[in-house]
Amino acid sequence: MVMSAASDNMWFTGGLVIIGGFTVVFHLLKLAWRCWCGFRVFVLSEVWQVDLKTYGQWAVVTGATSGIGKAYANELARRGMDVVLISRSNDKLQTVAKEIEAQYGRKARTIQTDFTDGHSIYPAIADGLRGLEIGILVNNVGMAYSENFAYFLEISNSEQKITDIINCNMLSVTQMTRLVLPGMVERGTGLIINISSEAGTRPQPLLSLYSATKIFITYLSQCLHAEYKSRGITVQCVSPFIVSTNMTHKVPPNCFMKTAPDFAREALNTVGHSSYTSGCLSHALQNIVLTTLLPDWVRFSSFFIRKLDSLARSEECQMTEQPKGKED
Ligand SMILES: NC(=O)c1ccc[n+]([C@@H]2O[C@H](COP(=O)([O-])OP(=O)(O)OC[C@H]3O[C@@H](n4cnc5c(N)ncnc54)[C@H](OP(=O)(O)O)[C@@H]3O)[C@@H](O)[C@H]2O)c1
Repeated sequence: MVMSAASDNMWFTGGLVIIGGFTVVFHLLKLAWRCWCGFRVFVLSEVWQVDLKTYGQWAVVTGATSGIGKAYANELARRGMDVVLISRSNDKLQTVAKEIEAQYGRKARTIQTDFTDGHSIYPAIADGLRGLEIGILVNNVGMAYSENFAYFLEISNSEQKITDIINCNMLSVTQMTRLVLPGMVERGTGLIINISSEAGTRPQPLLSLYSATKIFITYLSQCLHAEYKSRGITVQCVSPFIVSTNMTHKVPPNCFMKTAPDFAREALNTVGHSSYTSGCLSHALQNIVLTTLLPDWVRFSSFFIRKLDSLARSEECQMTEQPKGKED
């Protein structure tokens, strides 16, 4: 009786050791795989790059006159693409187009439009793109509704702004994709880069509407990539952390907060290596640290939201005391 209890115990302990061993090996293999993927996407990609010209002659960039969009347009031209720049301000469009033509010797066309105007603008954009072999579309345009973290009811002029943000951040991505994807499918090759945000990796209270529009982009990109990859189309979702642009009040760049040109160069290197990326190693590491240190139950707690709100208010006080950075 005593012997059988002892042998049951041994079997039980042995079983636990085997399960524990498998679990440790499984997690070590998973870690090794993630390290290899990170190494390939962010380090090897510096030397092992896709020739973007193989997608087609033209790249279309929305929101191309400043920040991340302008940086993508420049980097694409530097890598041999002709570019179509789309933004609101004709003056800025002409300036950026001339800079690109002079610096890289590539063709640069412009289309002036305001993406907050809704569905009525797309026939004119379709006319502007007609006849071009579009290999790459960068759906970059996007807007936030407040200078900082804010409660939903604090959105100023909310009736108009809610529609504007949905039109600019979500409708633009979907409609621009509808315009260029058929040509790409016909040619059996194409790349669509959709700029989401770290705020689109998980729901972000106090950025509710912005975060929701960015999650839309993340989901749309992943679904489209799955649907069209077998037809030669890559849909890449890029979810940056903080990049120094007008949107982020030209925050001084450092190893955490990238300049737009550095970010665009590193993010374009990841093409062909990853269909969902933070865009650069620094932002990928920040994503891992934040996800680990701030699980959803912390971020969704009333305590955390109050803290975030008071941090935003104290930053706002400091900003009103300092002059704003010069805009592009
Ligand atoms: N900066 C960051 O830290 C960060 C982080 C994560 C994600 N993102 C995302 O990255 C994208 C670019 O952000 P950014 O920081 O580069 O912004 P930005 O510096 O403010 O540039 C926005 C660009 O979009 C154009 N634009 C703005 N509203 C427009 C409209 N209604 N119609 C047409 N064009 C419009 C602007 O040009 P005009 O004024 O001439 O129209 C400008 O070229 C956005 O989707 C943003 O959500 C940015």
